[in-house]
Parts: sequence; structure tokens; C-alpha cells
Amino acid sequence: MIIAIDGPAASGKGTLARRLAAHYGLPHLDTGLLYRAVGHAMLEAGLSLEDEAAAARIAARIDPAAYDEETLKAGPVGEAASRVASVPEVRKALLFLQKSFAHQPGGAVLDGRDIGTVIAPEADAKLFVTASAQARAERRWHELLKRGEQLGLDDVLADIRKRDARDSGRSSAPLVQAADAMLLDNTALGVEESWQQALALVAARLGDRR
Ligand code: CDP
Ligand code: CDP
Repeated sequence: MIIAIDGPAASGKGTLARRLAAHYGLPHLDTGLLYRAVGHAMLEAGLSLEDEAAAARIAARIDPAAYDEETLKAGPVGEAASRVASVPEVRKALLFLQKSFAHQPGGAVLDGRDIGTVIAPEADAKLFVTASAQARAERRWHELLKRGEQLGLDDVLADIRKRDARDSGRSSAPLVQAADAMLLDNTALGVEESWQQALALVAARLGDRR
């Protein structure tokens, strides 16, 4: 059983993916961490984010477990991740790992940008989670503040808009709602309400398979 969750930055897809995985007793992969690991490794090595060949080489041997999640979730790493994620060779290098994770015995929950369209088009249930850019910027701003990154809300909003445009506009696996994905707009919903709606949608789609 494969559950695919896609959506833009700070839409709450990771939170929902983790809860769905716990609810159904399935392993979970946050695929954004793979791109973040590549972006972080590029920055750490002092490489230009324009260097597509270097990004592809790094992606081919990346081990996201080598970095702690705290490091990968930092603001500048998200921007670097989105830059390297538009390189087709980088996406290709990360494909096998993600497909293998999705197709492990028993199934899995994956969240990202292209799970329902590229990584697991055959997923049993697909959710496309979104919220207004303003709502997402406020959520991300709070998270960064908790980590000690004191940015202006306007800067966080500008970063989210730029990343949305890049992720949706790229030619390789752009962020797009799969035709058979269920839409959840949680702009006006709290974490708990968003979870209840997500679970109801997924449970209805899975029917008596679970
Ligand atoms: O948590 P947030 O939504 O801000 O970002 P993320 O999911 O960790 O992803 C960081 C970046 O990686 C995104 O802006 C995308 O460009 C890229 N990404 C992707 O292209 N495909 C995925 N399946 C997951 C992430
Ligand atoms: O994975 P993604 O970047 O899409 O978002 P996340 O890390 O799951 O959630 C971003 C933040 O939004 C977290 O601090 C959540 O607690 C918060 N949030 C949410 O997930 N859902 C709501 N309906 C409201 C807030």
C-alpha cells in the first residue's frame, strides 16, 4: 500500500505524512531531505549551485543519514535544494532510492513534490496538500524562529513564492497535482483539523483495503 503526499513548501505535507505513516504502521520517507542533503553538500563544499555536473555527482552518492535533520531544515538549504532539484540528472540519481522505498513489502508513505506523478504514479491514495502562500510563510516563519533563525516575515514569504515558482515552473518533474490526487487546502485549518480531513480522505480512498 503506497500513500503519496505532495504539495508546496510548508503546506503541512510532512506533518500529515508522518501521522498517516504512524496511523497505518507504514515507513515514511520525506523526499525533500534527499534534495536538501544534495543542496547542503554543495554549499558545504563551496560549489556553485550552477554547477549541474557537480550536483549530479553528489546526488549519485548522497547519504541523507549523514546529516542531522536540524541542519537540513535550515532556510538557506531549502533554497539550495530547490536549485539542485531542477537539474534532471540530480532527479535521475535519486529516483531508484525513492522508488525502492515506495515499493518495499507492505508499502510506504512518501511526501515531496512528484510522488504521485513520477515516483509512485500507481499509489493507492494521493493527497495534494496546499495553503495560501501567506499562511505557509507564517508557518515557516514560526518554525525558523524556533530554530533561532530570525527572519522578517516578508523575506520568508518572498522565499516561499520564489521556490513555488521554481518548483512549479521547472521542466523536470514540476510540482503539479496528479489527476487522481485528492486536494486538501488547509489555509484556514489548524494542524488537528487538517489531520482529521486528510485521514478521512485517505481512509475513504483506501476503502476496505485497510
Ligand atoms: O519542507 P519544504 O516543503 O520547505 O521543502 P522540502 O519538501 O524539504 O523540499 C525542498 C526542495 O526540494 C523543494 O523546494 C523542491 O525543489 C525539492 N523537492 C523536489 O523537487 N522533489 C521532491 N520530491 C521533494 C523535494
Ligand atoms: O512538510 P511541509 O514543509 O509541507 O510542512 P510541515 O513541516 O509538515 O509543516 C509546516 C508547519 O506548519 C509545522 O510547524 C506545522 O505544525 C504547521 N501547520 C500544519 O502543518 N498544518 C496546519 N494546518 C497548520 C500549521
